[in-house]
Amino acid sequence: MALLEVNDLAVSYGQIEAVKGVSFSVDEGQVVAIVGANGAGKTTIMNTISGLLRARRGQISFAGQDITHWPTHRIVAAGIVQVAEGRAILANMSVAENLALGLAAAGSRRHEGGPTIATMMERFPILGQRSGLPAGQLSGGEQQMLAIARALLAQPRLLLMDEPSMGLAPLLVKQVFAIIAALKAEGRTILLVEQNALKALKLADYAYVLERGRVALSGTGAELAGNQDVARAYLGGL
Ligand SMILES: Nc1ncnc2c1ncn2[C@@H]1O[C@H](COP(=O)(O)OP(=O)(O)OP(=O)(O)O)[C@@H](O)[C@H]1O
Ligand SMILES: [Mg+2]
Repeated sequence: MALLEVNDLAVSYGQIEAVKGVSFSVDEGQVVAIVGANGAGKTTIMNTISGLLRARRGQISFAGQDITHWPTHRIVAAGIVQVAEGRAILANMSVAENLALGLAAAGSRRHEGGPTIATMMERFPILGQRSGLPAGQLSGGEQQMLAIARALLAQPRLLLMDEPSMGLAPLLVKQVFAIIAALKAEGRTILLVEQNALKALKLADYAYVLERGRVALSGTGAELAGNQDVARAYLGGL
């Protein structure tokens, strides 16, 4: 059974229908990518799954429960944790305080032997070195690491990543993808939206190409990455 199942999802902003009947699923332990041009509706889908936006039509189920109309805090409590686009860390709070928030979000899912702030600082040493610094003073790449570390401390069953490499220099993009590959190797379940489409497809078990609010194509990451039409039509220049 799929861990996340999205069925005929439609989402509007007033008169603008941004997502027009999208269906897809994510199995436990899978990395699933959604790629597509700017404005295709990728962030809208992510924000609807995490409860920040409301579905106009369709269902979202998670671990067998219909979460379509759940409030965000309940969705987080169920284990869906989003690493926000634009790295929405709290700039005035210290690195350590941001991490503590992640840990708090684990709530009742927190278990013996789970990650701690200390283990996260081991995994991302730069966060240990900068622990007392306001998060807003970190570099872009460091902020992204903090956002990922904070999400991992919440012990997600499903990690939502919206453009984790956005705005980063090539070397840091590489680092972020290495982190995602490591998370995949740990068996984590990830829904990934990326502008670096080819990189995302190469990493993904399965992927969906979104075009103006609809799924235009889907297939294994390898299939789509090797598809010339996909490359030409959707991955232009990447
Ligand atoms: N708050 C909003 N109010 C009105 N329209 C919006 C709003 N947010 C997004 N839209 C519109 O909805 C559509 C989908 O936007 P969305 O942000 O989901 O795209 P995206 O695929 O994430 O794009 P990008 O790759 O640029 O991040 C776009 O046409 C966008 O202009
Ligand atoms: Mg977006």
